[in-house]
Amino acid sequence: MHPLQCVLRVQRSLRWGPLPSVSWLLLRTCRAHSSLHSTTCSSPERQEDGVQKDFSSRLATGPTFQHFLRSASTPQEKLSSPEVEDPPPYLTVDELLGRQRKVYFETYGCQMNVNDTEIAWSILQKSGYLRTSNLQEADVILLVTCSIREKAEQTIWNRLHQLKALKTRRPRSRMPLRIGILGCMAERLKEEILNREKMVDLLAGPDAYRDLPRLLAVAESGQQAANVLLSLDETYADVMPVQMSPSATSAFVSIMRGCDNMCSYCIVPFTRGRERSRPVASILEEVRKLSEQGLKEVTLLGQNVNSFRDNSEVQFNNAVSTNLSRGFTTNYKTKQGGLRFSHLLDQVSRVDPEMRIRFTSPHPKDFPDEVLQLIHERDNICKQIHLPAQSGSSRVLEAMRRGYSREAYVELVHHIRASIPGVSLSSDFIAGFCGETEEDHLQTVSLLREVQYNIGFLFAYSMRQKTRAYHRLKDDVPEEVKLRRLEELITVFREEASKANKTSVGCTQLVLVEGLSKRSANDLCGRNDGNLKVIFPDAEMEDVTNPGLRVRAQPGDYVLVKITSASSQTLRGRVLCRTTLKDFSANC
Ligand code: 5AD
Ligand code: SF4
Repeated sequence: MHPLQCVLRVQRSLRWGPLPSVSWLLLRTCRAHSSLHSTTCSSPERQEDGVQKDFSSRLATGPTFQHFLRSASTPQEKLSSPEVEDPPPYLTVDELLGRQRKVYFETYGCQMNVNDTEIAWSILQKSGYLRTSNLQEADVILLVTCSIREKAEQTIWNRLHQLKALKTRRPRSRMPLRIGILGCMAERLKEEILNREKMVDLLAGPDAYRDLPRLLAVAESGQQAANVLLSLDETYADVMPVQMSPSATSAFVSIMRGCDNMCSYCIVPFTRGRERSRPVASILEEVRKLSEQGLKEVTLLGQNVNSFRDNSEVQFNNAVSTNLSRGFTTNYKTKQGGLRFSHLLDQVSRVDPEMRIRFTSPHPKDFPDEVLQLIHERDNICKQIHLPAQSGSSRVLEAMRRGYSREAYVELVHHIRASIPGVSLSSDFIAGFCGETEEDHLQTVSLLREVQYNIGFLFAYSMRQKTRAYHRLKDDVPEEVKLRRLEELITVFREEASKANKTSVGCTQLVLVEGLSKRSANDLCGRNDGNLKVIFPDAEMEDVTNPGLRVRAQPGDYVLVKITSASSQTLRGRVLCRTTLKDFSANC
């Protein structure tokens, strides 16, 4: 998003009447939209007991436009613990507290959303909310949503219809159920959601999670509340996400947010805003804490994770220009200075040599040699790179504004393979983008054959409003052709991945144990360095650090597994012994 757009939003809301910011910028009231919503957005049970009346009168004398400007422009200072900070003028401290209300989260989409759920939960937990995994006992249901494709949004609309029934059936003896939409869909659709689904009580865009206690307090009074303001600097650096599953062996650590690339098909820059990185020091602190908790794997997260650039301190801002991968360009003016991804990766990997480090999702343009060298040298950085190609046709890549040709991409693949022997590669592809011909499609098929990825994510193109492709290009590949091409890509990907994965048969691999296999209680499952799932029978084995001791593998253990068979998605094998990452690296 252009920085000016934030300002424009605020200004636009100024023109909307007596309670200027009280529209979708921050919260929507019945008073401000009385002709439209007076009968639909108040909950009768609250009006009866006078709380509604009291709230409305406080609201009328309450927030000024300056108040909203203040809270919008300094996100880092916003309420993180309402029990100690001043509430906004129209709410009491007590109303900002969760008072043991139970929140149920449902997460859709990418790993970024999994991490966002943990951030949102961390904020609500501090405000006195409880968490439940039982939908029936929830007082608040929050859907963390995805807008990347039409299908993802449709799933959420369908879910909202189911939840509507839950809300309607709720006995009057219980407190009213509140439903909130968080994340990309809240950002993209804003008022449309509030208008279409009257039972949605609150919206919070990806940069507005600190505001959740206030939004929920407003929703509690029967008003619809929304904050979809995007920020230029919100990274939630000081919010330690709460791990959803306390027994997990791995965690996500968000290191940057947003995207400046503006690929022509993609809604992400519009829903998640501009690229900004979290300070290195706060990332290291989080990784250290996770290591102390015994976690064995950390995945650094960001929409363009390897475009990381910490310029939070003046001394980081030198004039050193950015090294891009050879043959790659950016859609924006080249940035300079800051602590870059190689620095962060180096520091993070030093925290705990027994902790595996992964990162996703990178952009192929930001793989300078220093990053590749580090991955090669450091034992605990996994030799696995996600290299989203999107298409194998240079013509389509240009229409997508990806900033590289097929040739530059293939050269990068060769360079990565030469720099990191045995590296595992994965990719994203889109079938049926605007103007894609059969010849273009065959080029993508041939790229899949040429590179032979281990893991792949393949999608049919889905037109998204606001994007450059929506405004400038024609979504002219018929749906059935898109689906047929997608099927062909999936078939070819599977054939090639099977071949690639079969080269592991007979090898001994280091596997981080995750737990029981979903298919059989006699089997355990874990992941190898390349992030492929490895299944093996749960059997007694020797522990190399305690010779003579017989053990069974537990989640979080490193074990050696001899691979006996492989498919396009999984490896199977026989467990040999329990070991450590250091021991494995010293002996392989
Ligand atoms: N249609 C289909 N796939 C898309 N992606 C992003 N936008 C779209 C779209 N409009 C895919 C890209 C991206 C992945 C996360 O989702 O392949 O890398
Ligand atoms: Fe979307 Fe491109 Fe940014 Fe990835 S790099 S989030 S595909 S705009």
